[in-house]
Amino acid sequence: MRVIIVKDTDTLGKISAGLIAKEMRKSPHFVLGLATGTTPIPLYQELIRLHKEEGLDFSTTTTFNLDEYVGLPGDHEQSYRYFMNIHLFDHININKENTFVPDGMAEDIDAFCEEYEAMIKDAGGVEYQVLGIGSNGHIGFSEPGTSLSSRTHKTRLTENTIEDNSRMFDKKEDVPTEAITMGIGTILDAKRILLVANGANKADAMAQAIEGPITAMCPASALQLHPKVTFVVTEDAAAKLTLEWERPQSRKALSV
Ligand code: PGA
Repeated sequence: MRVIIVKDTDTLGKISAGLIAKEMRKSPHFVLGLATGTTPIPLYQELIRLHKEEGLDFSTTTTFNLDEYVGLPGDHEQSYRYFMNIHLFDHININKENTFVPDGMAEDIDAFCEEYEAMIKDAGGVEYQVLGIGSNGHIGFSEPGTSLSSRTHKTRLTENTIEDNSRMFDKKEDVPTEAITMGIGTILDAKRILLVANGANKADAMAQAIEGPITAMCPASALQLHPKVTFVVTEDAAAKLTLEWERPQSRKALSV
């Protein structure tokens, strides 16, 4: 496990995008797993800059997003498809036909979940999976209590997640109560994983995920089982960690 503690979200974006770009440059047909939420936005901004200024090429990249709300069409402003378009896809040279976000409007959700798993497999599996973390330790929308070997499935959002996400909606009642999400087993199949976390409200979840026991009560703790996982965490989100983790002074110090 690699834990990189950074001073601010700008550095978080630069270091995490640098780690991904380094792998992307080695493999022309890259399969990237993506996450929504506020924390990955600086990472996407840096990927866009790397594309525009340093020639990072997305023309043969395929992406799979972690999750989507059930009942929101892709053109809804709070849907995760919409989020990905405005924060990343509209600004890089990716073929949108190669960008996949779970279909929250699927008629048969269980069948769709199986299909999503098959699509990831057919693409050769995810090479780098980006994750955020919920204040309750969720990854994707795999909430506490989800089987550590779960696959893509429909889930009911916890009250805690609905509360956290209500800041994006006009009112709490507008937040969908269900979502489609990759399972923890799906996430663990990625060749590399990068989790980004920012803010004091993530400090307990980060301490449990990185230094606590592996338990379904904190889904992110399952990442301890992964051989190539990196956490890029701001100081406030890392405040409750006790071991001595990396604290690079700059992106250059990590050669990314
Ligand atoms: P956030 O969401 O980055 O907006 O805090 C993270 C998550 O819930 O996975």
